[in-house]
Amino acid sequence: MVPSSSSILSILLVLLLSPFIVSHALQDRFLKCLSRTSESSFPFSTVLYTPKNSSFSSVLQYSAQNLRFTLPSVPKPEFIFTPLQESHIQAVVICSKQLGIHLRVRSGGHDFEGLSYVSEIESPFIVVDLVKLRSISVDIEHSSAWVQAGATNGEFYYRISEKSNTHGFPAGTCTSLGMGGHISGGAYGAMLRKYGLAVDNVVDAHIIDVHGRLLDRKAMGEDLFWAIRGGAGGSFGIVTAWKVKLVPVPSAVTVFTVTRTLEQGATKLLYRWQQIADQVLDEDLFIRVQIGTANVSRQGKRTITTSYNAMFLGDANRLLQVMKHSFPELGLTRQDCIETNWINSTVYMSGFANNTPPEVLLQRINMDRAYFKGKSDYARKPIPEKALEGLWEKLFEAESPLVVFTPYGGMMNRISESQTPFPHRKGTKFMILYWSSWQDATENVAEHINWTRRVYSYMTPYVSKNPREAYANYRDLDLGMNRNSNTSFVEASAFGTNYFKGNFYRLVHVKTKVDPDNFFRHEQSIPTLPQQMGLRNEVEFISSKA
Ligand SMILES: Cc1cc2nc3c(=O)[nH]c(=O)nc-3n(C[C@H](O)[C@H](O)[C@H](O)COP(=O)(O)OP(=O)(O)OC[C@H]3O[C@@H](n4cnc5c(N)ncnc54)[C@H](O)[C@@H]3O)c2cc1C
Ligand SMILES: *[C@@H]1O[C@H](CO)[C@@H](O)[C@H](O)[C@H]1NC(C)=O
Ligand SMILES: *[C@@H]1O[C@H](CO)[C@@H](O)[C@H](O)[C@H]1NC(C)=O
Ligand SMILES: *[C@@H]1O[C@H](CO)[C@@H](O)[C@H](O)[C@H]1NC(C)=O
Ligand SMILES: *[C@@H]1O[C@H](CO)[C@@H](O)[C@H](O)[C@H]1NC(C)=O
Ligand SMILES: *[C@@H]1O[C@H](CO)[C@@H](O)[C@H](O)[C@H]1NC(C)=O
Repeated sequence: MVPSSSSILSILLVLLLSPFIVSHALQDRFLKCLSRTSESSFPFSTVLYTPKNSSFSSVLQYSAQNLRFTLPSVPKPEFIFTPLQESHIQAVVICSKQLGIHLRVRSGGHDFEGLSYVSEIESPFIVVDLVKLRSISVDIEHSSAWVQAGATNGEFYYRISEKSNTHGFPAGTCTSLGMGGHISGGAYGAMLRKYGLAVDNVVDAHIIDVHGRLLDRKAMGEDLFWAIRGGAGGSFGIVTAWKVKLVPVPSAVTVFTVTRTLEQGATKLLYRWQQIADQVLDEDLFIRVQIGTANVSRQGKRTITTSYNAMFLGDANRLLQVMKHSFPELGLTRQDCIETNWINSTVYMSGFANNTPPEVLLQRINMDRAYFKGKSDYARKPIPEKALEGLWEKLFEAESPLVVFTPYGGMMNRISESQTPFPHRKGTKFMILYWSSWQDATENVAEHINWTRRVYSYMTPYVSKNPREAYANYRDLDLGMNRNSNTSFVEASAFGTNYFKGNFYRLVHVKTKVDPDNFFRHEQSIPTLPQQMGLRNEVEFISSKA
């Protein structure tokens, strides 16, 4: 029998529409699985957004901090799931595994490469967005707090300040960071010289593992608890909450920003800063340097600006004494100093205009939302003045470049390299961030990325080597990546040792133990150990290549 033209048409239609039918079926199967798994009557469809829901785009873009990964050409998730409680996440993990669908998890969406909401290497994929999982309970009596993964560090700071003006927490300076991803990769801020990283102050955690079990520190064991404090997000499970120690802060702290241009001796001054910022300076004092360019004349002549942006755990009088003693070259005056309390200092260090009320922290606003590419380095010795002059030349090649030097030392020197997966400790003078950002979607992305690569390449002789260290939270796919769901230990050991040095091997061990089938994965997740090779052979293999 000859098929009628109408039946050919309907076959054609089915073929044309099949992507929709497939995803529709997937979504139905997923919803059915969730109800079955959780044995509750909770209407899961109310927390599941597909591209058909009118709010899909706004939910997806809500915390997508790098606008590069919001463009139409970038792969979109099949659906976004916004769990209200831990049991919802448990069900999602079980069902994703059962249905073989790839999962990404997002807390604050600051991943430099957008890995929490974009998968370039596997499809279909779904996003579990923890935006509604953000309760915070602060226990001043015991100087501790539980904070859920979807809360931002700014919300957390605010909740602490509601209860006490002499308690704080040493996490990021940008205040829209998600506690889930941020703490997973280490998390530094203006108190790192005094109190170390956020991970150094974590005492317990809740994680949902590949079997959908909700585990606390005792149940997960010390190996996994070690791995999640710095081994970076997305490799071991879904962290739902952290328990942290609060740290004491004085009721009066002081902040300042002092800018010096080339004409004002910026190069010599920065050389001097490198000698004192990590070792000599009082641990109560954190001075980072934000380096950019500015116009000095209408004719377009440009200069380099170095902004000394600081937070001091003490009042202005003591700060002036400390500066007179250790860094008189900056010429800090009383007029430069803003004496305030700790919560206002977090607003200031985040880049909000002076006198912005701290309630802004509850709005989860990122001051730096833009299209961007970032890369990081670690310096273990001062960069010579001549080399800084070369760096200025590189800065002049870009339109609005930013390079930030963040001082280490203090507490960072007293924590061993293997205490947590974050290895950049003793002997690290400062971290460098290279940042190119733009606000216009039509700009040439390749050119911006190329600039960050050129400046990174230029800096090679002056920064750490073998391995060239990088901050895992400043994710950079230039360092290498997993090409598909089959992670390769050999390939991953490139970025793995940049981020974690020797701790990478222990991370691989933990990964192999807790997630042998590599369910939690992305372009830079920790790989499992191939069965045919023991770790010893792998290590020998790597060192033979080095
Ligand atoms: C503008 C800007 C400013 C920054 N400032 C600082 C700073 O001051 N200090 C600092 O240390 N870092 C800073 N960072 C880097 C930041 O710490 C990392 O990007 C961090 O990963 C952000 O966490 P997130 O939850 O917001 O990001 P997300 O994009 O949500 O997550 C980052 C990674 O962690 C995974 N992940 C997210 N949530 C979970 C979870 N609950 N369990 C397991 N894995 C999870 C994601 O899948 C992804 O791989 C900054 C980044 C930006 C863009
Ligand atoms: C998305 O749309 C579907 C179908 O109209 C609806 O059942 C569901 O509740 C919507 N989801 C949300 C989160 O609004
Ligand atoms: C600097 O000058 C250039 C050229 O005149 C102009 O395009 C640019 O917008 C100026 N930048 C700033 C920050 O004023
Ligand atoms: C903190 O900032 C708010 C808003 O500008 C201001 O009202 C308050 O006085 C500040 N607190 C201190 C101690 O400076
Ligand atoms: C940057 O781009 C130039 C061409 O515009 C190219 O020759 C060079 O190799 C690129 N550099 C890097 C580090 O990608
Ligand atoms: C991953 O490896 C398995 C087993 O070697 C193979 O069957 C599969 O095709 C690979 N997947 C991809 C995406 O390369």
